[in-house]
Amino acid sequence: MNIAVYPGSFDPITYGHLDVVSRAAAVFDRVVFAVLVNPNKGAPVLATNDRLEVIREAIDECCPADLASRIDIESFDGLTVDFCRRRKATFIVRGLRAISDFESELQMAHTNRKLAPEIDTVFLMTALEHSYLSSSLVKEIAFFGGDVTQMVPAAVARRLAARGRGL
Ligand code: PNS
Repeated sequence: MNIAVYPGSFDPITYGHLDVVSRAAAVFDRVVFAVLVNPNKGAPVLATNDRLEVIREAIDECCPADLASRIDIESFDGLTVDFCRRRKATFIVRGLRAISDFESELQMAHTNRKLAPEIDTVFLMTALEHSYLSSSLVKEIAFFGGDVTQMVPAAVARRLAARGRGL
């Protein structure tokens, strides 16, 4: 069985992330949507449990049932490769939006391969219509009370709206 881990901060998920995970679920037998609990990155806008909840709601809302049933959602801390080994995953999935993503992704892929030669990174190009999206911009727009409904699944937009302007 081919298991892939799709790691990230996902604070919050966007339609770009959903596009990547649903296409990964069409390729691999199982995909683990892995939410990093990262104390080094400062306080997230959405707490880990909120991020896990909105991802579940968004997948149920947006992904066809046969793909959704192949996606697990978990949080992890520590190294991505250690999490992959615990989950018996031999692939890491990452999305590439533009050439500007490539340099850091290439470095991470090589580093992870050095740490764990049995785990390979597979890149999916984020769909063109979502390639402008980033979690940081979504947070900034929501912070100033802007409309993010075209950028994030309804489950996320509801959470951000509930937090109100200034988050
Ligand atoms: O999409 P993001 O939020 O930039 O994801 C970055 C992520 C989570 C994939 C990366 O920071 C990561 O893997 N962190 C876990 C710690 C780790 O394994 N570091 C070495 C990576 S080469």
